[in-house]
Amino acid sequence: MEKKFLVVYYSRTGITKKIAQEIAEYLSSDIEQIIDEKDRSGIRGFMTGGRDAMKRELTQIKPVEKDPANYDIVIIGTPVWAANITPAIRTYIMQNREKFKNVAFFCTTGGTGIEKTFIEMEVVCKKKPIATFAATSIEVKKNTYQGFKEFIEKIKSHNLTGGEQ
Ligand SMILES: Cc1cc2nc3c(=O)[nH]c(=O)nc-3n(C[C@H](O)[C@H](O)[C@H](O)COP(=O)(O)O)c2cc1C
Repeated sequence: MEKKFLVVYYSRTGITKKIAQEIAEYLSSDIEQIIDEKDRSGIRGFMTGGRDAMKRELTQIKPVEKDPANYDIVIIGTPVWAANITPAIRTYIMQNREKFKNVAFFCTTGGTGIEKTFIEMEVVCKKKPIATFAATSIEVKKNTYQGFKEFIEKIKSHNLTGGEQ
C-alpha cells in the first residue's frame, strides 16, 4: 500500500518553506503551511518571536486544512528560534500530536540550536522521529545542504509496522 505523507511547516522568511517544498516534491506528498496570527515581521516581530520561543509560549495559528490523522508520516519543519521551536509549530504540535502516527523533523537555522530544537520537538510530539534533517539558511540559499537524500530515503523506506525496511 502506498504510504501517505504530509509536510507541515512554518516559515517567517521563506528558508524553511523552500526545504518543505523540496521534501513534498521528493515524496509526492501533501503540504500544509502553518500561519502565525501574531505579527512576526520586522525587528519587533524578531524580538517578540525570539522571546516567545524561548519561553515556550503558544500562539494563535490559522485553522489547518489537512487532518494529520489521515497520513502515515507527518514531516514537521520549523526555523530555529532562540535555540527552540517556533511558537507556531509548537502550537500545531500541541493541537495535533494525538493524531500523529509517525513523525520526521526538519529545521533551518542560522547555525546553532539544531540538537536542542529536535529534542524539544520530540518531547512536545511525545514521539521519536524516524528521521531528521537540518540546514543553515546559507546552505539553503546556496543549495549546498547535505543529508537531504538520506532523509528522504529513511522516510520512504520506513516500515510502518516498525523500523526501516
Ligand atoms: C526570532 C528568531 C530567532 C532566531 N534564533 C536563532 C537561533 O537561536 N540560532 C540560529 O542559529 N538561528 C536563529 N535564527 C535564524 C533562523 O533560524 C534562520 O534564519 C532560519 O533559516 C529562518 O527560516 P525561515 O526563513 O523559514 O523563517 C532566528 C531567527 C528568528 C527570526
